[in-house]
Amino acid sequence: MQLFKDDAVSWLSTLADASVDLVITDPPYESLEKHRKIGTTTRLKVSKASSNPWFDIFPNARFTELLQAIFRVLKPNAHFYLFCDQETMFVIKPLAEKVGFTFWKPIVWDKMCIGMGYHYRARYEFILFFEKGKRKLNDLAVPDILEFKRVYRGYPTEKPVPLLAQLIAQSSNAGELVVDPFFGSGATLIAATELERRAMGCDIADDAHATARQRYLAVTGE
Ligand SMILES: C[S@@+](CC[C@H](N)C(=O)[O-])C[C@H]1O[C@@H](n2cnc3c(N)ncnc32)[C@H](O)[C@@H]1O
Repeated sequence: MQLFKDDAVSWLSTLADASVDLVITDPPYESLEKHRKIGTTTRLKVSKASSNPWFDIFPNARFTELLQAIFRVLKPNAHFYLFCDQETMFVIKPLAEKVGFTFWKPIVWDKMCIGMGYHYRARYEFILFFEKGKRKLNDLAVPDILEFKRVYRGYPTEKPVPLLAQLIAQSSNAGELVVDPFFGSGATLIAATELERRAMGCDIADDAHATARQRYLAVTGE
């Protein structure tokens, strides 16, 4: 596993064209700011569960450069998964199509228990499923609703490793390179390592690096 500390877009600019087999990522969207401003969600400012300070957002105005960079580094036939909420998905879909991706569908991550909010409390998140060129999913029987329990007391917005493992197993093979340019707790990279993929990622925050390194040590002993 290789970890880099930089801005995601400038780090991606250091990677060669068509050098990556799969990108899975979860940027800190502008819309998170909105969730943090209302009611009980202000508690997320410093996640009570983790005591980590909440990270800076990645502005919507930077999405075109991010999506262009991801498209460029992906191999000609490859998949790209982007964690996203119901607001930002409408911003991203047309931008991603403009840079060349095919949008297939939002995959629903069912967290299997109720979360925050007042108007139908949140139980799911979207994972936008994009394709560059054509690549077959490894298992055509997997449904578009994925049920995995959310992570408690983790890094802010940490995603479950088994959920990431499902996406990685679907869209890459052993030995291939999986990249996450906003790795956070390192969940994508840990899942990739466990599945014998090569894993490389970037995050701007010291906390993310400390968390991911600790997890890697726990998994591999290295
Ligand atoms: C939503 S979190 C990712 C959580 C991750 N999926 C997990 O399961 O733990 C977003 C991450 O992006 C990082 N970040 C924010 N702005 C960034 C930037 N411009 N470049 C790279 N990383 C950035 C934050 O430090 C944070 O760790």
